[in-house]
Amino acid sequence: MRFVKHVCNVIIKMYNIRCNNCLISYAFKEDADIVLFDKEVFVNIKKDEIFTDPANKITDFKFDEQVADVFDDMINRSVPGYPEVVVMSGLFAERFVQSNSNCYDLGCSLGATTLSMRQRITQPGCRIIAVDNSLAMVEHCRANIAAADGTVPVDVWLDDIRNIEFSNCSMAVINYTLQFLPPSERRQLLQNIYDSMLPGAVLLLSEKVTFDEQQSSELFIDIYHAWKAHNGYSEMEIKQKRNALENVLIPDTVVTHRQRLTAIGFKRCEIWFQCFNFISMAAFKL
Ligand SMILES: C[S@@+](CC[C@H](N)C(=O)[O-])C[C@H]1O[C@@H](n2cnc3c(N)ncnc32)[C@H](O)[C@@H]1O
Repeated sequence: MRFVKHVCNVIIKMYNIRCNNCLISYAFKEDADIVLFDKEVFVNIKKDEIFTDPANKITDFKFDEQVADVFDDMINRSVPGYPEVVVMSGLFAERFVQSNSNCYDLGCSLGATTLSMRQRITQPGCRIIAVDNSLAMVEHCRANIAAADGTVPVDVWLDDIRNIEFSNCSMAVINYTLQFLPPSERRQLLQNIYDSMLPGAVLLLSEKVTFDEQQSSELFIDIYHAWKAHNGYSEMEIKQKRNALENVLIPDTVVTHRQRLTAIGFKRCEIWFQCFNFISMAAFKL
């Protein structure tokens, strides 16, 4: 365990850090004064040391208990912009979730996005359905949801998101999960979501991406690895994790994402967040 203090010096930066039994929301302004602050700034986070030791053979990455246990630390140090995307998912929920409708968090892991949406939903009669096919993640997620405040009911399903019968959906979020499906099965999942959506619904899709321009892809991957090193990962950890993900996480290009969403029927889709080779898109059903 270690103590982490998140400090930043941009004009306003919001963090929503979920840690075992509590959700901590806080923000800083330029002079590092805290302008919004619930609960504590210091949080206990189990450090991700999964790839610290040299391994003879790297096996494919799995979302098992070992990963679930350190996932807070892993995702915050491995996905640039992750806290912002989680917090902003809540802001989208505030604006787009319709009364008496379902919201989906697909590949929910520990429930960070679910909790962020739940904090912000104002409409009556809504339900959040959080789905993950990792038993370890679902168990942690259920404990986190049970420990957090909130009145919107949440169902946490242990299932493959490809098996879900979506219905009456005003918002679906799929943060950093589509990339783990076989590429040939991504379109059908998105089509299933689209078909279940009410007019005015929104889909948030966050992914690691590549770029048509090879130079851009290489540059962003390089800077991304420098960012991971800045966050304390060694060169060996970065390399071993990359090898473990190679056959498991297959990124699409930005163009592929756009074309697929448009072909499915989404009338508008915008990139609303990007940091290096990580983006989040919002796609709207009119
Ligand atoms: C990178 S994590 C997602 C992070 C999470 N959305 C968040 O914002 O904290 C990917 C998650 O998707 C889950 N996953 C991968 N493939 C899946 C599938 N086919 N069905 C359900 N869950 C899946 C994994 O178990 C893992 O928890």
